[in-house]
Amino acid sequence: MPHSTAYVVTDRPDRYIGRLVSHLGHDAEAVLGGDGRAVIDLPSGRCVLRSCAGGIEAIATAADEKALAGVRDAVTGHLLRLAPEELVVDWSPPVGGDAVWAMSPVVDDYLLTHCSPADEVLADLVVRTREETGGSAGMQISHDEGALLTMLARMSGARLAVEVGVFTGYSSICIARGLPPGGRLLACDVSTEWTSIARNYWERAGVADRIDLRIGPALETLRALPAEPVVGFAFIDADKESYPDYYEEVVTRLSPGGLVVVDNVFQGGRVFDPAFQGDAQLAVRRLNETIARDERVESVMLPVRDGVTIARRVG
Ligand SMILES: C[S@@+](CC[C@H](N)C(=O)[O-])C[C@H]1O[C@@H](n2cnc3c(N)ncnc32)[C@H](O)[C@@H]1O
Repeated sequence: MPHSTAYVVTDRPDRYIGRLVSHLGHDAEAVLGGDGRAVIDLPSGRCVLRSCAGGIEAIATAADEKALAGVRDAVTGHLLRLAPEELVVDWSPPVGGDAVWAMSPVVDDYLLTHCSPADEVLADLVVRTREETGGSAGMQISHDEGALLTMLARMSGARLAVEVGVFTGYSSICIARGLPPGGRLLACDVSTEWTSIARNYWERAGVADRIDLRIGPALETLRALPAEPVVGFAFIDADKESYPDYYEEVVTRLSPGGLVVVDNVFQGGRVFDPAFQGDAQLAVRRLNETIARDERVESVMLPVRDGVTIARRVG
């Protein structure tokens, strides 16, 4: 489903959004929230407008490019009628959902080089993973995400952590390093081949004695855990179709204040676009909706790499 964005420079964004909503409200369903965000549903598609520093951000979406042009024209026409002299509405070309980048490559690169640096073990593991797993190496988390995991695991104070999706062990090292003395990481994966690489690097990182590797479907491993709030930290990064089930098994076992971190919640941008109806996208989209409404947790979604959700158990 294509979308276009526009940034409209004005020092009166709220005023124009409010007036646009009341104008368009005659031919469309238009709702203005107290936060200055307006959702306008036109027969041809949707436009979301947000008041921001120095202007209005607009996002138009529709089923195809012709309908998208209809949404853009309707919004542009009404805005220009409000202030023909003052406003310039310049839409980006249509973009498909899979071409949405959460961050520009420049920002991504800056983030990578402005967090605590990777030590030699992690740097070597990156190289070895590329050499031994070829194209699968892209499954490894990035260095900045690893730094985030170490920090969150440490801040959670978890004595028991759970990881769903080990691969060659990068995230396991990052989580294990954040655990207090005596802390344990239950690491779940189905692959003996990939996790045999992980074991070597856990030894080198000095964390092997605190990691219990369980080979087998992670859902079975999780369901075998006591049904009590014993987990202080969890990281979910395995087969996406099972994400809703992993989340449910983990969240019921999270101790108060415990954290669950979910990776790849953007699905390469496909999660934003209903045109993508693959099993993985449906499952992750469903989980994202569930977490946002889940009263057992407070949550935030961050644009780190392919999107990361952090949910904290509130009681
Ligand atoms: C994206 S990779 C994990 C990357 C890892 N977190 C890292 O930092 O390198 C996903 C992993 O999930 C594992 N996996 C896939 N299906 C699984 C399942 N049903 N149960 C457990 N692990 C599974 C795969 O074998 C793979 O190693």
